[in-house]
Amino acid sequence: MAPIFRLEVGEDRLATLTFDLPDKKVNVFGRPALAELERVLDELAARRDIGCLVLLSGKPGGFIAGADVDEIARVTDPVEAEAGSRIGHRLFGAWSELPFPTIAAIRGVTLGGGTEIALASTWRVASDRADTRIGLPEVRLGIVPAWGGSTRLPRLIGIAAALDLILTGKTVSGRQALKLGLVDALLPDARFLDLVRDFARERTAQAMATAATAPTADATAAAASSRAQAPPIRRSRKRPGGLRGALLEGNPIGRHIVFDQARKKTLEQTRGHYPAALRAIEVVRVGIEDGLRAGFDAEARAVSDLAPSPVTKNLVHVFRLTEDAKRERGLPGGEPLPVRETAVLGAGTMGGGIAQLIAAETDLPVRMKDVRNEALAAGMSHAAGLFDRQVKRRRLDVPGMRRKMALLRPTLDWSGFRRVDLVIEAIVEKLEVKQAVFAELAAQVPDGAVLASNTSSLPIRDIRVKTPRPERVVGMHFFNPVHRMPLVEVIVPEGADPAAVNTVFEFTRRLGKTPVLIKDSPGFLVNRLLTFYSIESFWLLDEGYRIEDIDRAMVDWGMPIGPLALTDEVGIDVAGKVAHIMAAAFADRVRLPAWLDRLSEGDRLGVKSGKGIYRYEGRERQEPDPAVYTALGLDPEHPGHPRKPRETSGGDPGLEAMVDRMVLPMVNEAARCLEEQVVRSAGELDLAMIFGTGFPPFRGGLCRWADQQGLPQIIATLERLEGAAGNRFRPSEALRATAAAGGFYARFGGSAPPT
Ligand code: NAI
Repeated sequence: MAPIFRLEVGEDRLATLTFDLPDKKVNVFGRPALAELERVLDELAARRDIGCLVLLSGKPGGFIAGADVDEIARVTDPVEAEAGSRIGHRLFGAWSELPFPTIAAIRGVTLGGGTEIALASTWRVASDRADTRIGLPEVRLGIVPAWGGSTRLPRLIGIAAALDLILTGKTVSGRQALKLGLVDALLPDARFLDLVRDFARERTAQAMATAATAPTADATAAAASSRAQAPPIRRSRKRPGGLRGALLEGNPIGRHIVFDQARKKTLEQTRGHYPAALRAIEVVRVGIEDGLRAGFDAEARAVSDLAPSPVTKNLVHVFRLTEDAKRERGLPGGEPLPVRETAVLGAGTMGGGIAQLIAAETDLPVRMKDVRNEALAAGMSHAAGLFDRQVKRRRLDVPGMRRKMALLRPTLDWSGFRRVDLVIEAIVEKLEVKQAVFAELAAQVPDGAVLASNTSSLPIRDIRVKTPRPERVVGMHFFNPVHRMPLVEVIVPEGADPAAVNTVFEFTRRLGKTPVLIKDSPGFLVNRLLTFYSIESFWLLDEGYRIEDIDRAMVDWGMPIGPLALTDEVGIDVAGKVAHIMAAAFADRVRLPAWLDRLSEGDRLGVKSGKGIYRYEGRERQEPDPAVYTALGLDPEHPGHPRKPRETSGGDPGLEAMVDRMVLPMVNEAARCLEEQVVRSAGELDLAMIFGTGFPPFRGGLCRWADQQGLPQIIATLERLEGAAGNRFRPSEALRATAAAGGFYARFGGSAPPT
């Protein structure tokens, strides 16, 4: 087999070690790579002909992507997990103690173990290439950086900065890494390898000059020659943690404050559902206060506790679903068509957001057509606001923002539509209007143009009826807010041209979103499942539960927002309309409270009208609006009123019972969706719910969570609820068949098998 590491030693004692995992697109530290690194380290320790060693990647796409996630997925034994961490400590420890300086030459993606070997190197340099991203994403997989990263990083860049990277798992660019002091120099990519060599010569010469009382002629000459050629290298002058670090982190009381703040913030954000983050804070603290060795021990113990846990397994499962989704190519039988110019119809909430996203992500010109000038102005100002935010966060400069804004071409007529390849419609949700607009649109664009609708509830097969060449009409269902939600449902109506579907599929990916193929059916996938959840929240309200308790039950369970607050976000009128469409489509199991249509009376439309189930100040949600109870005949103040909202308290069975009532109908419906092939697999359904609704990733997804609870038990609970509350809870035949087949993943697969 071809070697994984290739060592080359030059005449000038400058050596390179190239990591190039055979037959893989990226370098990962799995067992084979670690075993070979161990052999290489033995050899290196004995070499006397090396003055400096540069670690390079043989992969064009990146440096090192980290540990092998499959190995993390497989670990069930805490002892084995701990041993896995100790291997990294031993090898990277040996790397840091080689008898010559080492340089990690970072170019492209560098994650987890890749960042950790860089931290164990004497120096780190990064390419200024746009795709250079450095990070420690371990907490996102439910573990902590445990090959020395949690211990070495805070020593290099300060505690607060290190915690920021470790607790969020975010990555930084080469420029940001330089600013943080995470790398010692940022090198222009065009001459990366030459400049790395120059850096190596310069630093080695400096080190030798400092070591020797009288610098050798060679060293002085080398330093002088490297200064003479002075490459455009930017060097870090960063002190660990900066001034704040020196003031706050340099003494025990200051450090106590930093760790305490991190703990509070983490608890608030994770509600205790992600134990790895809290554990990482503790590991960093031990490493700083008790020394390197103690830090490494704490890393190993943390991984031994965390790696075999269900939360880690669920997070790894979600990671694999995400990776699998990246490999999806859409429908067989049609290559995606090239998209060079685009247009969006409707400049409202969704159209404005979609147009901005196209300009932001693809650099393609985008016509934005509306029937009202004010709507166009609002769409442009929405886009400007989003770009402005990017400028403030230094992700975009001002000329860049101007260039992006110039890509947006607002219009009230069809000018420019002759050249567009893809149109995304986001106008009012009225079938007759959409049908007429599609027919008109078809006359304005080239015959081959792909026409997509962002409808949230209307069947695509109905929208396209008046369109010539209807096979090129596809659904492209974004979620609100467009710039934040990662999912796009690509709706495939019967008889659709695979090339048109795949054009939308690929374009979704160009927009940085995850496309999932969905059958053209009422509510598509995500809204169909969510309807069952939110209608049940209305029934709980109807029975007299408090608004805040209903929402708290689901937020405590891990949803990013409660169902009633979500109704306010979506718009009570819009939610009501969708509920009626679903009630018509699924009359046997969707019943609506009689008061639902009254809820939106008096301009109570939710966030957009500043008045909803909650009160609002601007867009900020305040407390529940007591007037809602009164308006619906649920008077909370009336003593002895049969519908007085019930008292529930945290962690009591009341909240759990509410969760069952809202989540289990989604499970029941998910089985139907899979049986009807609304979505292709349980894995895709889970990913769609996580990316489209924020379903808690630590639960692994709706189907996986249900499998873990056990479908027989879920069916028993549904039967009990059916007895108490009616046939909307009746377990579906699809769910019973799924239980009989051994669960969702056993029956409907998913790219990743359950672990
Ligand atoms: P909106 O009311 O904010 O915007 C609609 C825009 O379309 C308005 O500016 C209106 O002037 C314009 N318009 C109306 N007729 C037009 C025509 N013939 N040509 C060009 N423009 C026209 O509505 P929103 O919320 O942006 O929804 C648009 C579409 O997106 C709907 O189909 C909706 O179901 C769907 N959708 C909405 C989501 C949401 O959360 N609001 C989420 C996902 C999809």
